[in-house]
Amino acid sequence: MTAPTVETHLSEADLTAALRSDAERGLTAEPKSLPPKWFYDARGSELFERITELPEYYPTRTERALLERVVGEIARAAHAEVLVELGAGSAAKTRLLLTALTSEGPLKTYVPQDVSSGALRDAADRVAAEFPTLAVHGVVSDFTDTLQNLPRGGRRMIAFLGGTIGNLIPAERAEFLAGIHDVLEPGERLLLGAGLVIAPDILVPAYDDAAGVTAEFNRNVLHVLNSRLDADFAPDKFDHVARWDPDHEWIEMRLAATEDMTVHVRALDLTVEFARGEQMLTEISAKFRVEGLRAELGAAGFETERVWTDKDDRFALVLAGRL
Ligand code: AVJ
Repeated sequence: MTAPTVETHLSEADLTAALRSDAERGLTAEPKSLPPKWFYDARGSELFERITELPEYYPTRTERALLERVVGEIARAAHAEVLVELGAGSAAKTRLLLTALTSEGPLKTYVPQDVSSGALRDAADRVAAEFPTLAVHGVVSDFTDTLQNLPRGGRRMIAFLGGTIGNLIPAERAEFLAGIHDVLEPGERLLLGAGLVIAPDILVPAYDDAAGVTAEFNRNVLHVLNSRLDADFAPDKFDHVARWDPDHEWIEMRLAATEDMTVHVRALDLTVEFARGEQMLTEISAKFRVEGLRAELGAAGFETERVWTDKDDRFALVLAGRL
């Protein structure tokens, strides 16, 4: 086994600068909002791991079972020498892909990418120990603006799993898919995992669980602002709200102020007022229709080669080739 390498394109200073500008913009906007990527400090990543084990949160286990069923077909169709996994995080379902891509295909290199360097290093170490023949080359970056930093050479497949594409609004998705198209060579592939539009009575509880783990995950963004920007949010004075927006076909998570509050964000020299009941948007999680995915991929220059869905049509895996 060769020791994994990890390349960093995102320093603590870059992260702080990005958080400052996102917080400044979002907290002074009307209505207020914060981007979902700031949920994921160490505590937020742990809370997300707990979410994936909740009875109500079907996406992770649905995608995993689907992947288990079709991963051999993916491996034979993709013929990938390099697997780039965007937002690899804890890389739990990566094992399935790596096993199939090495035993049923020519995989030589695994490139996990994530914003969280701690999670990425752990994942790279685990994979390198478990797959001694693979070269493991981690990249710490923000997937939306550092695609250019991904290594070139060898037939690549970029995997973007978990349904995280749903965190982007349509214009951001178009830009993101076009960016992936730009870094790929003709014939290279994208493997996309996306949650599908299903009945709201199943969808909403997945984002509003009985045990309150998602609520705590949502409030974690306030803990992140407190610790990184020296803010004084009282997270327990915000209620978790999850609602299905049938027009946009996305879940919205918000934090609702339970009383009038004045919050100081000392690192920004910013004072923010919240009125009782005021809601701040913290995440959208869009759900898709297969035809819509094909259309968005097509518009970005991809041909949809295969689509697999679970038996309840809750989740899709799409293999698309760059034209
Ligand atoms: C990690 C972005 C796929 O949108 O379902 C889970 C994050 N938010 N519960 C999702 C999340 C609330 C999750 N993704």
